[in-house]
Amino acid sequence: MQDALHTPVALDRCIALLSPAIESNANPIIIDATLGMGGHSKALLLKYSNLKIIALDRDLSAIKVATDNLSDVIDRIQIVHAVYDELSAVLANLGIEKVDGILFDLGVSSMQLDQADRGFAYSQEAPLDMRMDQSSGLSALDILNTYSYGDLVRVIRNFGEEKFATKIADNIIKARAAGTLSTTKDLAEIVKNSIPAPARRTGGNPAKRTFQALRIEVNQELSVLERAMPQAIEAIRVGGRLVVMAYQSLEDKIVKKAFAEVTESHSPLGLPFDLPNSAASYKLIISGSEGASEEEIAINARAQSMRLRALERVAA
Ligand SMILES: C[S@@+](CC[C@H](N)C(=O)[O-])C[C@H]1O[C@@H](n2cnc3c(N)ncnc32)[C@H](O)[C@@H]1O
Repeated sequence: MQDALHTPVALDRCIALLSPAIESNANPIIIDATLGMGGHSKALLLKYSNLKIIALDRDLSAIKVATDNLSDVIDRIQIVHAVYDELSAVLANLGIEKVDGILFDLGVSSMQLDQADRGFAYSQEAPLDMRMDQSSGLSALDILNTYSYGDLVRVIRNFGEEKFATKIADNIIKARAAGTLSTTKDLAEIVKNSIPAPARRTGGNPAKRTFQALRIEVNQELSVLERAMPQAIEAIRVGGRLVVMAYQSLEDKIVKKAFAEVTESHSPLGLPFDLPNSAASYKLIISGSEGASEEEIAINARAQSMRLRALERVAA
């Protein structure tokens, strides 16, 4: 049985949002763009015995765990080690043109946070890695050791929305010169010492924002998502649905913008009707965004920051 920490977020809601698309095709195919431990995929496969899923994850250790968790339904899920901005290429390789639905449950999984040695958690002593795919790319420590002062400020300010980015970057440069920066605890301490005491008393652990910034930079999370959204929007058939859960505002903004671009009519403002070929090919199924229920947040803290958005394709 799964504990609350590993319970998929907004599971029933995601299934309800995807159901009309699944139920309107005799041989439905869904893409789970963020397989994780396979919680959402498993529930969908158990509910629909005719469903096939193509699942992506960039983390090989997540794929290993999910493969075990999904052993009962493994013949109906094809798992691909890929970054989700490769979605069009993955589908082309499989000879699939359109799918019935796509689910994105963004960010790191609770399993990745629990694996102390991955370096995602500021509360646990570990090497500064933070790569979701440990088989490639720069680690957080590589970035901290090689980026210029200006680039560190940019990353910490833009991706962490951190007011004290210049001071933190300054102290990172000093610590790396002194050889005292190698672990999550070292970085958390540098951040703490860079923030004036009064500012430290509010807003939770001050390291949270810098860790978020580094994680985004290490995994190129925002640019990957910006490239993935149009591919996902294009890949759903008419009547197909796209459901996205984001856990921080920078990602949610990207989803919101991508959805707005395809759900708004291209007719000149003020016309009481859409001109031919200018009506939007997609409609929002949720107006704006939705959060998790209070009951869910009470048992799963991770659900607290979740914003859910969903759209449906209504024309080719
Ligand atoms: C929040 S978890 C998904 C949890 C999953 N829905 C479940 O029920 O177990 C997010 C997963 O997406 C993966 N991921 C994050 N960004 C990715 C990307 N750009 N491409 C592919 N996988 C990604 C992470 O490695 C992680 O395993």
